[in-house]
Amino acid sequence: MKKICLIGGEGIGIEVIDSAYQILRELSLPNTEIIEAFAGEIAEKEFGNAFPQETRAAIDDSNAILFGATENKAVGTLMYLRFGLDNFANIRPVKLYKGLRSPIKDVKNIDFIIIRENLEGLYSVIKIGEGNIKKLVKHGILREDDYAEFFHQSKGYYATKIITEYESKRVAKLACEKTLERKNTGFPGRLTIVHKANVMLLTDGLFKKVAYSMAKDYIKNHKIKVDNYHVDIMAANLIRYPETYDVILAINEYGDILSDLGAELVGGMGIAPSACIGSDHPYFEPVHGSAPDIAGKGIANPLAAILSLKMLLEYLKFKEVKLLEGAIEEYFLQVADPAKNWKCLPPDLVPKIYREQNKFAKTEKVTQNIIEKIKE
Ligand code: IPM
Ligand code: MN
Repeated sequence: MKKICLIGGEGIGIEVIDSAYQILRELSLPNTEIIEAFAGEIAEKEFGNAFPQETRAAIDDSNAILFGATENKAVGTLMYLRFGLDNFANIRPVKLYKGLRSPIKDVKNIDFIIIRENLEGLYSVIKIGEGNIKKLVKHGILREDDYAEFFHQSKGYYATKIITEYESKRVAKLACEKTLERKNTGFPGRLTIVHKANVMLLTDGLFKKVAYSMAKDYIKNHKIKVDNYHVDIMAANLIRYPETYDVILAINEYGDILSDLGAELVGGMGIAPSACIGSDHPYFEPVHGSAPDIAGKGIANPLAAILSLKMLLEYLKFKEVKLLEGAIEEYFLQVADPAKNWKCLPPDLVPKIYREQNKFAKTEKVTQNIIEKIKE
């Protein structure tokens, strides 16, 4: 028996997870229980707590979680899913489906994944903290003289960047395994490490070094190719040569930024899914946030949530995922002809002029269209 936990969270998270739920029901997976749990504002109203015991128990009891979005009150739940459960790798596929057009001229075949280290880097601030820069003097990290000279005694803050061997190693191993797995299905077998080791010699230098030493065996025994770029030139490369990448391994903050760039290469944030894996309770979520400006209007694009559901089903090895994949591929083909198909396309998948004339589909319509394709 497999258990899948659905948590809408806040804002459009609730709407898009509802859409994913309808799809999930349509797939009628064998031996599977679907559990709904609550986080954020709704949970606070129902249970008097934004991250109630019930939700934590549901997460701990499930084989995978599909999470919608957090505005601010659901952030505790998100932190638990990521840091609490030790889901150390954030996988963000960037794939140009047939029917979609990249904003980059003449590209046809973009299909890479970004593996973002998920617990450290500059975002370890969540665990370690930020502080007043003056404190660095107090703790003896910065000399009073240097403080005066470099910071002109001005008020300011610092944040902590943490890179450990342990974390770098396990995420690099996962990236090597993924590269090999993809190579075996026809991908180039190229792993690209992203860092800024020319400036952050110690932290980023360590990440790069550990990744290379982990990759050694894979290079030798499995002929995977490994290269590395500083994050700034990598941003340029993704625009210039988007078709050449296969697996990109990046330090947390770089992966965060490059994955938004990647999403825009292939159709936008409205269709960008992700998987946070590493523990026995991996969770899957659309990369977009709660979009308060359109929340509650029923016009959110559910595709990122549906593609995240697809990743979840792949992870749990459900063969029904093929049905869903076929339906999604069919669905995207329609984007190429908005004049004919706008009635089943969300606002962000029709041209601007259509949006201005209110010619687009609501979330429910999009969902029904995909369900029809699953039935076909
Ligand atoms: C994302 C988001 C989050 C992140 C924020 C909301 C913490 O930007 O999932 O990419 O940076 O991980
Ligand atoms: Mn982000």
